[in-house]
Amino acid sequence: MSNEKSGFSTKIGFVLAAAGSAVGLGNIWRFPYLAARYGGGIFLLVYLVLAVTFGFTLMITEISIGRKTGKSVIGAYTDISRKFSPLGWVAALVPVIILPYYCVIGGWVLKYLSAFASGGGSSAAGDGYFSDFIGNAGSPTLFFVIYIILTAVVVMLGVEKGIEKVSKVMMPVLIVMTIVISVYSITLPGAMDGVKYYLKPNFSDFSLKTVVAAMGQLFYSMSLAMGIMVTYGSYMRKEDNIEGSVRQIEIFDTIVAFLSGLMIIPAVFAFSGGDKSMLNSGPSLMFVTLPKVFDTMKGGHIVAIVFFLLVALAALTSSISLMETVVSIVMEKTKIKRLPACLIVLGVSFAIGMLSVLGYSAWDSVLIFGKQFLDFFDFLSNNIIMPVVALLTCVLIGYVVKPKYIEDEVRLNAKFKSQGMYRFMLKYVCPVFMLVILVSSVIGYV
Ligand code: PFF
Repeated sequence: MSNEKSGFSTKIGFVLAAAGSAVGLGNIWRFPYLAARYGGGIFLLVYLVLAVTFGFTLMITEISIGRKTGKSVIGAYTDISRKFSPLGWVAALVPVIILPYYCVIGGWVLKYLSAFASGGGSSAAGDGYFSDFIGNAGSPTLFFVIYIILTAVVVMLGVEKGIEKVSKVMMPVLIVMTIVISVYSITLPGAMDGVKYYLKPNFSDFSLKTVVAAMGQLFYSMSLAMGIMVTYGSYMRKEDNIEGSVRQIEIFDTIVAFLSGLMIIPAVFAFSGGDKSMLNSGPSLMFVTLPKVFDTMKGGHIVAIVFFLLVALAALTSSISLMETVVSIVMEKTKIKRLPACLIVLGVSFAIGMLSVLGYSAWDSVLIFGKQFLDFFDFLSNNIIMPVVALLTCVLIGYVVKPKYIEDEVRLNAKFKSQGMYRFMLKYVCPVFMLVILVSSVIGYV
């Protein structure tokens, strides 16, 4: 149980830990349903372009800020400019919003794991299983509680390092599993239309909505604009190469997202002929589609158990890093110890998370700005707060302290290969773009 900062001993340790935080439900659950909803191939293309431009720029910036100041998000922004210290607080708000509903979805994963493990896989593959499950608060609450307590216990014991060791083994296995399941999905009868939908961009499906959704997903998936990467950067060794590490984290994260789409979208076509309402089904997509895949697969119920277990672990490494961030802020600002800080965060997150659980069941008629609670929290963090944080970060670095502040840090031990692009993106493209996203979200265009 230590509160002190411990650095990473190797570069790969840093990359894996940051990737462990980045790879999670965002890749496996959120990416496929957005790609299905926003035109398949065109969404994938926009996402990839944004990842190598915006994602790269923001991740370099955040990790460098962390390493240079050696502080976590609130302290770091205050260090750079007193005037911008509220920015650190706003960034820190994002994990507070995401953590509760992330744990609700984590609970859904546990529910499917337990269904397959207890031999109920075939009924889990049936139509209506998912809507019955989330439509009654009892079972989602139970699994939400189990999941959030698992997360909290790890954070309380301060054993994230142990979890990181697990994730080093788990990540490669997860990739192999997604490849195996994708190959099977693609070969299902009727799946080829889905492969085409997912891989072939149809430019007539392009709209600002696609871009806004892809951008929100990028923030979410790469844990950007929420202070997490600043914190990770503060643990990074001075002798390690920032640019190379950022590339590796991005590649890792994108591969898992890409494969998850390949696992799920062709299967949607195989089971429902690419029915529009199915493609549009949103957060339920993975839970409705994958059990059907497993149910038709030889030995599929065993594959399902291993798969949901791995997803649960990938989700846990992410929710642990979310909770750890919130807990460390509470400890730093109130000077209370780890245990009471964890209990407070657990209690508050449970209360907020229950809104998401009830939003699909007892309170499903309550809408906030036309959205159910879970969708609303997701929208608030991804489409409003994160663009604000990203915009102000670009203004701070691009115009107040100047890009050299970051570039010097990146160049400490290596050539900054994409420096020209970095500067151009940071100063001109990112701020304008963030503003467009923000305005279109606020006026309700998306
Ligand atoms: N990037 C994670 C995912 O894609 O699942 C979500 C996440 C984890 C966001 C940790 C923020 C964070 F601190």
